[in-house]
Amino acid sequence: MTQIRSLAHPIARRPGELGVHSLDHFNFSVPDVEQARMFYSTFGLELKPEAGRLNLHTQGHPHRWGSVVEGPGKKLQFISFGAFEDDLPRFRQRLEAMRIARIDPPPGAQSNGLWFHDPDGTPIEIRVAEKSSLNEKSTFEAISCPPGVAGAPGCSTKPFVRPRRLAHILVFTRDIPKAVGFYGDVLGLRLSDRSGDMLAFMHAVHGSDHHVIAFVKAPGPGLHHLSWDVPSINDIGLGAKQMADKGFAAGWGLGRHVLGSNYFHYLRDPWGSYCEYSSDVDFIPVDCDWTSGDHPPEDSFYVWGPTPPADFAFNHEAG
Ligand SMILES: [Fe+2]
Repeated sequence: MTQIRSLAHPIARRPGELGVHSLDHFNFSVPDVEQARMFYSTFGLELKPEAGRLNLHTQGHPHRWGSVVEGPGKKLQFISFGAFEDDLPRFRQRLEAMRIARIDPPPGAQSNGLWFHDPDGTPIEIRVAEKSSLNEKSTFEAISCPPGVAGAPGCSTKPFVRPRRLAHILVFTRDIPKAVGFYGDVLGLRLSDRSGDMLAFMHAVHGSDHHVIAFVKAPGPGLHHLSWDVPSINDIGLGAKQMADKGFAAGWGLGRHVLGSNYFHYLRDPWGSYCEYSSDVDFIPVDCDWTSGDHPPEDSFYVWGPTPPADFAFNHEAG
């Protein structure tokens, strides 16, 4: 295994494989950026305005995970993936060999990358970037306290939850097999698990969570949810409460997924899509050949939790 050392930890890289290493950032529009600022700051993200965009950060992490811009409606604008610098010429050659047309960067995008459309027409970028996906599994906390000590904080002293990083995004697609084929053949992502032609999860070959991007079938493209990593189930509960206290109570959780195994609580955003607190998602190390499965619907969604909202998988973005 080839490894490049950084000050913090070794950066995983699988030799001989051409694949993006990270979902670098997302970009979507909303009709009211101020509404977005209120929602995501309550969620625990750090918001930094820059050149007409509202950038989404997590506390103490240098990476820009995504941007929100103002537009006529909620719409996924583009998805950018990170690659190693010496792989970019090979990606360029691959796009040419596959006769995939290159496009200009979308207006406002700051790019050094290769741009093209995915099968649903969403602009995709492969760019040179730091590896923002993890090289080892996220830490998970299950903290108890010794006998004779009170474990819970008071309501007035409970901590404010701040996610540690973007975990993944889930997007709508018209055609799951076509999306899995495209993101596999072009970007080098690998299928982690699927449920027929309805749902699919993909990971990065250089070590990442069980999924950096997932797909759910719908009549058109769109952004279903952003998922943010927190260290414990307690943080998921605290986060759900801090959102409810500010009027963002609608959602789904607490529960545990089957595929990816993470604990979750989803909060419905002002546009009918979701933001997820996630903890303890499965990790696929750089040297692991994950055996993907095709799981029946009744054994692919959640192990336990309340019944999801009836319109949970409805693509409001596509009308
Ligand atoms: Fe998720």
